[in-house]
Amino acid sequence: MTDSTRRDFLKTTGATAVGTAALTATSYAAVQGANERVLVGVIGPGGMGTHHIRTLVTQKDVRITHVCDVDRTRLAAAATAAAQDGREPATLADMRRLLEVREINAVFIATPDHWHAPASILALDAGKHVYVEKPCSHNIREGRLMIEAARRARKVCQVGTQSRSTEHVMAAMQLIREGAIGEVLSVRVWNSQLRRNIGRLRPSDPPATLDYDNWVGPAPLVPYQANRLHGVWRWWYNFGAGDMGNDGVHDLDIGRWGLGVDTHPSTITALGGKYFFDDDQEFPDTQTVIFEWPSVGKEGRKKQLIYEQRIWTPYKMDGYENGDAYYGTRGVIILGKESGWKLYGERNKELKTMAGRPNLLAHHRNFFECIRTGNRPAADIEIGHLSSSLCHLGNIATRVRRVINFDPKTEEVHNDKEAGPMVRRTYRDHWGRPRGV
Ligand SMILES: NC(=O)c1ccc[n+]([C@@H]2O[C@H](COP(=O)([O-])OP(=O)(O)OC[C@H]3O[C@@H](n4cnc5c(N)ncnc54)[C@H](O)[C@@H]3O)[C@@H](O)[C@H]2O)c1
Repeated sequence: MTDSTRRDFLKTTGATAVGTAALTATSYAAVQGANERVLVGVIGPGGMGTHHIRTLVTQKDVRITHVCDVDRTRLAAAATAAAQDGREPATLADMRRLLEVREINAVFIATPDHWHAPASILALDAGKHVYVEKPCSHNIREGRLMIEAARRARKVCQVGTQSRSTEHVMAAMQLIREGAIGEVLSVRVWNSQLRRNIGRLRPSDPPATLDYDNWVGPAPLVPYQANRLHGVWRWWYNFGAGDMGNDGVHDLDIGRWGLGVDTHPSTITALGGKYFFDDDQEFPDTQTVIFEWPSVGKEGRKKQLIYEQRIWTPYKMDGYENGDAYYGTRGVIILGKESGWKLYGERNKELKTMAGRPNLLAHHRNFFECIRTGNRPAADIEIGHLSSSLCHLGNIATRVRRVINFDPKTEEVHNDKEAGPMVRRTYRDHWGRPRGV
């Protein structure tokens, strides 16, 4: 921490007043029960990062001491949004400076996907607890490295799939576990909504307020182009994971949860492409992926998850824009993470329903609770890695248009020269390049 950063930190957070000496990253657990606050840094306060800030400032035992963004305009807006008790947090453009602040206990990472693993690994190695947005990684190898970093650091690493802490989703999972619809052998997941065309643009100069080089970070450096950021980076291979890794990952995660599988699938097949959008997007707008798990579950049966994506329609399938249908041997649950679920028994008899909304605050509280208790969080990095890997595997299978045989133990695709290298990525020489890739 530089002197000026420390001065800013003390000035903007009143850190001395809350006794920062006791609040080192390693000692927070020791102060449970005291009137101390968890000191938080927010990295990448764009769309979702701002949403986190608005939820964080409502929590009395949390203080945002620093915000960090490579876009100065966004940084200033984030500082205003993060003001608590009339004080704004310090602003930093370089996440390394934030991670040097010893007093910070936890970081929220809401950068584009290509920065999730690099930033999380740096933060965990710096001794911070990490809440990282979904998909937790840009590729499968990075997810594994994140698990290793979290276990090495003995820190909490929560992934931003808030349905894991959402009451109506948890209630549906409980019913499935209790056998309300028998054995669930197959789940259908859909992501059906109306996205927009991102146009066709040519490279141009980045805005003066943006540090584009560090926005790209360790990903291969491509020229700035206005339809690559903000937000729209999702549709580019270099930075995102398409809509499978965007909205799809939430439903894939709860689909996998209800299916009761806690390993990777071993067989994946897919078809899809850009059937609708005529623009620069690289990922498919139409995609059907089938995942198969070999001999799991009580009876040692195979299990299947089917993912359907159509991002050019306002039509809500089975009443839900995005949803999960859990097919059991004695009934079905149709669930929309945004609104509720219905349980049907034999002959389609509606037996139970529940309404609900995603609960981001509950997911934050689960994270802070685990910092105190040392427990694994609801969306621990291992869970996040398995679910994010479904997006990556689905995208790989869609790109190569072949059946992919994935080895769940080595996390490699053997005997496929095109698909094999896609479980990882190439990096450029940059300080953010993750250890061990
Ligand atoms: N959990 C949810 O429901 C949910 C909803 C929306 C988005 N998300 C996730 O949140 C993440 C962000 O999405 P978004 O739509 O807010 O994107 P965004 O482009 O609006 O915001 C990303 C921010 O990160 C900043 N950034 C990029 N590189 C940085 C770096 N090196 N250091 C600091 N800041 C950096 C950008 O300047 C930008 O302000 C994505 O991973 C997305 O999947 C989650």
